[in-house]
Amino acid sequence: HSHTKLPNRRRGFNLVITTSCLSLQVGLLSGICLIVGTMIGSGIFVSPKAVLLETGAVGPCLCVWAACGVLATLGALCYAELGTMITKSGGEYVYLMEAYGSVTAYLYSWSTIMVLQPSAFAIIALSFAEYTSTPFYPGCTPPIVVTKCLAVVCIFLIVSVNCLSVKLASYVQNFFTAAKLLIILVIIVAGIVLLVQGNTENLSNPFEGASTSFGSIGLAFYNGLWAYDGWNQLNFITEELKNPNRNLPLAIIIGIPLVTLCYVLVNIAYFSAMTPTELLQSSAVAVTFGDRVLYPLSWVVPVFVVFSTFGAANGTCFTAGRLTYVAGREGHMVKILSYISLKRLTPSPALIFNFTLLWFFAQWGLYGLTALALIVMRFTRKELKRPVKCPMPIAVLVVIVSCYLVLAPIIDKPELEYLYCTIFILSGLLLYFPFVHRRFSWTRRVMRPITMYLQLLMEVVPPENNE
Ligand code: ARG
Repeated sequence: HSHTKLPNRRRGFNLVITTSCLSLQVGLLSGICLIVGTMIGSGIFVSPKAVLLETGAVGPCLCVWAACGVLATLGALCYAELGTMITKSGGEYVYLMEAYGSVTAYLYSWSTIMVLQPSAFAIIALSFAEYTSTPFYPGCTPPIVVTKCLAVVCIFLIVSVNCLSVKLASYVQNFFTAAKLLIILVIIVAGIVLLVQGNTENLSNPFEGASTSFGSIGLAFYNGLWAYDGWNQLNFITEELKNPNRNLPLAIIIGIPLVTLCYVLVNIAYFSAMTPTELLQSSAVAVTFGDRVLYPLSWVVPVFVVFSTFGAANGTCFTAGRLTYVAGREGHMVKILSYISLKRLTPSPALIFNFTLLWFFAQWGLYGLTALALIVMRFTRKELKRPVKCPMPIAVLVVIVSCYLVLAPIIDKPELEYLYCTIFILSGLLLYFPFVHRRFSWTRRVMRPITMYLQLLMEVVPPENNE
């Protein structure tokens, strides 16, 4: 990085001219770890209860888990084409920009950066805190303050790690991914042993009592899909990936089926140790499973769930920062967010911003919109090279399923929240016109000194123009 020499301090405005870029450091293994490590978080240890409740029986419950995995894989295949065709970081943001233009991309970044990513991060941090504090309060629920403070500590720690170094963040990710795969493996093996010993009665009449309501199947899918969410994460850091044309599709095609297999087997293991009714009564299935099956080593389960949530939170932070960074670079968010730490080559302003602010309806709407972008660009951007081509029916299917996921709960139970959510997303336009579209000179006059001050304070520089 020849450009990153620290210029004369007294002529601070020189900092603006100096540029840098995030360094290329993520290989195939780290790519897989980023996908697997973000997908496996708290969901598989918590959601099985809700999925079972909504589906009403073991058979449909397992089918929903498998179907969610297939859906995530199909969605990710679309993202493999998009990610190798447009090799910029930022995930959906850059694809929406290319396909529909600036306003849509702006609204996407607005709702994702302001609400979706921070709330995903917060939910995971809270699960981390819950599992960390429970052992210290045997027999009762830990006080809310304790849980919240622990969640804050977790967020603070992870944001710091991500500001310090890309390498460190990626090392943390790999370590915790290995840890969570280990505990999943332990649960699966214990389940297989139980099944071989003949504990199969819970799986014998799988479709008895199955729910047939349109809405509750949709809700079951939401709960399952939360556990699978994160399948799109690698597309947020394409620019930092080594050899993205090979590694992006490969990481997707290895990572997501692997997670699907794990999830289905883990659910089977749960049913080998407890009846559906017992599962519905447990507040944390994995812990109940550990208590029953792994005694006297049952403490390993909560410990590894803590590891797992911490790793998922780290992955969420890593990619969320990159989106904020790209949106800042395109002028959709304040410019300072796209600046890079001179010493550490990490996008620290973007990372910090994300979490000084503290989900499904909007999330799947956006996934569907992105798959539609793929279809649109097959017609409008024929000239772009596509190293990976996702079959058209898959993209169409992803669009249709997303429409279902967005509309089913609204049709089933219309609530004002969905309207508020839509209004919130559109309200981003109030900022779009003065700051992005028209670029009034007063907005620049306001932002310039603020950007400069923050730049000096944080020692960050603009990214290299890679056009
Ligand atoms: N699937 C993860 C879990 O089970 C949550 C993923 C959060 N989403 C995200 N975009 N990082 O906890």
